[in-house]
Amino acid sequence: MPNEIIVDTQLPAEMLEMIGAECAVQIWPADAADPLFHTAVGLLTYGHPRVDGAVMDRMPNLKVISNFGVGVDHIDLAAARARGIPVGNTPHILDGATADMTFALLLTAARNVVIGERYARSADFTHYDPSILIGSEVHGATLGIVGMGNIGRQVARRARGFDMTVLYHNRTRSPQAEAELGVAYATLPDLLQRADYVTLNLPLTAETGGMIGRAQLRQMRPTAWLINVARGGVVDHAALVEALEQRWIAGAALDVTEPEPLPRDHPLLRMDNAIIAPHLGSATRQTRRAMARLTVDNLNAGLAGLPLPSRIA
Ligand code: 8YV
Repeated sequence: MPNEIIVDTQLPAEMLEMIGAECAVQIWPADAADPLFHTAVGLLTYGHPRVDGAVMDRMPNLKVISNFGVGVDHIDLAAARARGIPVGNTPHILDGATADMTFALLLTAARNVVIGERYARSADFTHYDPSILIGSEVHGATLGIVGMGNIGRQVARRARGFDMTVLYHNRTRSPQAEAELGVAYATLPDLLQRADYVTLNLPLTAETGGMIGRAQLRQMRPTAWLINVARGGVVDHAALVEALEQRWIAGAALDVTEPEPLPRDHPLLRMDNAIIAPHLGSATRQTRRAMARLTVDNLNAGLAGLPLPSRIA
């Protein structure tokens, strides 16, 4: 009998192939009493439904939770530890792709790429007008990186190529990053007051949830952009709507929102000074393939009772 694996949404064909014939992959049952929960030995998380102790308790045979992604804010790691269930994730291999996406959003925001693209296709574009869609400079500007982890460092490297001044804020100061990347530590208020672009590159945790709220948005420059490629929950969305409506900041470029997707009538979706992408941070062929490989390797190791190649809890 094949190992029964529960996955929360349909997997790409390539990943199903990697998982192989020894596993029967089943989509997460809608009914909490579904017998599949009792027989499943593996849980592969993908689209981020909440995996808490109650879910784990419905799966008495569960040997491993393998997450397709680095962020594990949707998994109760303490509950997994308490039950002796190893949790795997995919750090490092998506740092470059996520940093590239940070810069894609930054450049898009600075140079009016989205509004300009819409305009260039529209009937309104009848002649070249040098007075419209004047953006802001990227080279020479100040970037504030909130979260100097693996992704934050990759963002800092890219910022050097754009001749930017880079400030960072992190729970702990990193003299190594300062020496290697030429970045300067700043308190969060200082960073928010000085940066032309503020990028969020940190995990969602109990400490970081809602950390960019009204007070923080008020501290930003009226010409500054907020870029979020981390998790929507780091930003208080009601405060962000107010900040964009009242023009406390120039705009927000969001690869992630809370919830995701936003309800179709959410005010952010109607705002010209908001750019919203559908969570594309790690979405390149190479990175997604590497993530799939590591996710499956973590899964198989857990099923075999071996150490996971990349274990977070
Ligand atoms: C994934 C991400 O696409 O790794 C993460 O934390 O947010 C993305 O790279 C996402 O986890 C979906 O699996």
